[in-house]
Amino acid sequence: MALDDIDLLDLDTFEKGTPHAWFTRLRKEDPVHRHEDPAGNPFWCITKHEDLKSISKNPGLFSSERMGTLLRDPEPESLGALRAIMLNMDPPRHRQYRALINKAFTPRMVTELMPRVRVMVDRIVDNVIEKGECDFVEDLAAPLPMEVICEMMGVPEEDRRAIYEIGNRMVGFDDPELQKDQPILDGDYENASAEMFMYATKLAEKARSHPSDDLATALLHAEVDGERLSDFDFNSFFLILAIAGNETTRTVTSNGMLNLIRHPDQRQAILDDMSLIPSAVEEILRFDPAVHNFRRTATADTEIRGVEIKEDDRIILWYPSVNRDEDVFENPQKFDVRRQPNDHLSFGIGEHYCLGANLARMELRLIFEGLLKRLPDLELAAEPRRLHSNFINGVKEMRVTFTPGARAGERH
Ligand code: HEM
Repeated sequence: MALDDIDLLDLDTFEKGTPHAWFTRLRKEDPVHRHEDPAGNPFWCITKHEDLKSISKNPGLFSSERMGTLLRDPEPESLGALRAIMLNMDPPRHRQYRALINKAFTPRMVTELMPRVRVMVDRIVDNVIEKGECDFVEDLAAPLPMEVICEMMGVPEEDRRAIYEIGNRMVGFDDPELQKDQPILDGDYENASAEMFMYATKLAEKARSHPSDDLATALLHAEVDGERLSDFDFNSFFLILAIAGNETTRTVTSNGMLNLIRHPDQRQAILDDMSLIPSAVEEILRFDPAVHNFRRTATADTEIRGVEIKEDDRIILWYPSVNRDEDVFENPQKFDVRRQPNDHLSFGIGEHYCLGANLARMELRLIFEGLLKRLPDLELAAEPRRLHSNFINGVKEMRVTFTPGARAGERH
């Protein structure tokens, strides 16, 4: 196959599984590869660990704001809304915004949440454990991140399902199965983002009229240099939390369990020694990152690895590739729950390093602990159905079976 025949825009290929053979070739033969795009300008594929690192750490030259962070060129009229989301901001605006968010979203918050998250994990497993079978994605992977974000933000129980479904639609924009005509909330909305925005407005009103100890209230009151978040900023932050916090963690949980099922020796190693869970979670994150790519746009003419880049060129960072870079990882195609060191870049690096990395790690450790302890013989009942997307490495459905067990509910 010629390098030019590699088609990273082919969603059918991604639906079958991450095209690692292509990435291996690109890393070796053309690590800064020019990729044609029938719908627009060509883009550069960044496939080496070192390059992704240096580009992410240089937001002045490689902008998130100029054209957003999605592979596809945004419609000019949607740029304003995109730039309201911190992921798509550059310094100095980004730093100021992130400082405000950091005031409310603290490491202490994550630690304090741990006992609640343990209870949530027990409940999630309780809901299926007597049945002996379920859809892993819907029943086991999806509920926890959604519950955690909603709990943090003060979203009442009865609204949580709607938030989850709106988030699904926003992220699965390339998957026809997830694009339905009817809005989920009552009202006439142009698209799922508009629905999420409206919901955030309601949430802010509630947090103002009934302040409590939730994140929504803390965000609305956080202050840096006399500045506070505007309503618009607050809504945009809710939007990114509801997506970034839900879909990613769910995806890593599903792919992680799939990898443990496919590597029974590795699962057995954890069952024999639960202290391996933190390193297993890192390996799960490395082996199948939730996000396939983010974009940057060059703000000036430059070069990467000697390849000439022009101002406004589109640069695509491929996380699954850098996480298997032979220059950084020994035996990179091997799934090894004991891997040390494990310098994966699944949470990004530099300016936009994932705000929720601590939270996601805590959730992943607790859910895998709960799943492995209580459903140790979980097996696939059918091949998983994957998302039709080259953005999120998602699993839509994964039917599993296991030996039924007893509920733990009485423990709480
Ligand atoms: C396993 C789960 C997760 C993965 C793999 C993940 C991945 C990422 C990556 C790669 C970035 C960097 C984007 C860039 O450089 O352009 C990022 C940023 C971000 N993530 Fe996560 N994320 C996860 C979970 C979460 C959670 C749980 C939250 C929130 C509660 C969250 C909130 C954010 C936010 C707000 C940003 C933007 C930060 C900024 O622009 O400064 N993420 N995430």
